[in-house]
Amino acid sequence: MSESNHDNNITIERKHSHVEICLHGDVAYNSKTTGFERFDFQHDALPELRFSDIDLSTSFLGKKIAAPFMISSMTGGYSEAAALNRQLAEASEHFQIPLGVGSMRQALENSSHRESFAIVRKYAPSVQIFANIGAPEIAKGLTDREINIMLELLQADGLIVHLNAAQELFQPEGNTDFRHVLHQLAAITAKIPVPVIVKEVGCGISASAALRLIEAGVKAIDVAGAGGISWQKVEEIRYTRQFGQETRFSMPALEELLNWGIPTAQCLLDIRAMKRDHPEYKEIEIIASGGIQSGADIAKSLALGAQLAASARHILKALHQGTLEKTIETWLNDLRAIMFLSGSAKIEQLRHKRLIIKQ
Ligand SMILES: Cc1cc2nc3c(=O)[nH]c(=O)nc-3n(C[C@H](O)[C@H](O)[C@H](O)COP(=O)(O)O)c2cc1C
Repeated sequence: MSESNHDNNITIERKHSHVEICLHGDVAYNSKTTGFERFDFQHDALPELRFSDIDLSTSFLGKKIAAPFMISSMTGGYSEAAALNRQLAEASEHFQIPLGVGSMRQALENSSHRESFAIVRKYAPSVQIFANIGAPEIAKGLTDREINIMLELLQADGLIVHLNAAQELFQPEGNTDFRHVLHQLAAITAKIPVPVIVKEVGCGISASAALRLIEAGVKAIDVAGAGGISWQKVEEIRYTRQFGQETRFSMPALEELLNWGIPTAQCLLDIRAMKRDHPEYKEIEIIASGGIQSGADIAKSLALGAQLAASARHILKALHQGTLEKTIETWLNDLRAIMFLSGSAKIEQLRHKRLIIKQ
């Protein structure tokens, strides 16, 4: 087998087992939460509005969207991924909300699985779709041709770059060379015709990292904070399956590392404070993700400074259980209820509500 065929097979196995482990494995943070449970909205006894008039529509990167929610980047690049991406695309189109696809490294390395990405645009012709690539590929430097392949396959509205240092650290075949990411990112933001969004995958983005990303030309930041899924745990399961119980880290440190990261609500608070200190960056949009699993989480995300919230694992679980559309509908209806009780007819009003810290 040639080296590139071997690498391809590893990538396919990885994307496949990620879905399986995320659905069935014990991969939640166990010593950390998202932090949303620390906050309450203040009840408005005089909302002066009609429930049926509540309007969830807002905008993201200059385009109108029907609700402040997006489906996070998950999959693509192997044959079964096409069916998953098709269903995610249908849901995005139905709800008129944005969608990210999974890492497109496979589409760059091998043209045979490009259809599993292209299908998304076929079933979601009118919503924002975002391409996706990882920091290690960015660090190596993407060619103009590679960037064009990703954007054209999806007729993408933007490129999402994921930062996943902890995941790569735990991944059996991980790439831990994170030098030059920022420099290469700045080169990409300067030349591509669509906005670049940077996200984590569950360890969160601090205010200082966000500032460096914004200075490199990034237009939106998805915090993907801790408290939902631990990708360290996902990769630890893959490592154990391959190499047995032998562990690379000592016991107390392992627990710390498996639960590493900044809780989602903390990322939002810190980045909001940073943006207040830098009014020149007020247009930069923030996505709240990492453990989002209810309309209340979405509502609190907005009140903590996010433009919208996003979810991956709970959406994947709902899809697997055949309840994808029902789940999104329920979350949006819960969001409407919170807007009603907090006196917010529009999303912009919800964004200005002060949250109370629970005692
Ligand atoms: C099965 C699965 C595959 C994922 N693959 C990618 C990926 O290829 N690129 C990426 O940026 N994030 C990927 N993610 C991470 C999510 O986009 C998200 O940042 C992370 O899971 C935290 O959000 P959550 O707690 O709602 O799942 C994946 C998530 C899941 C569940």
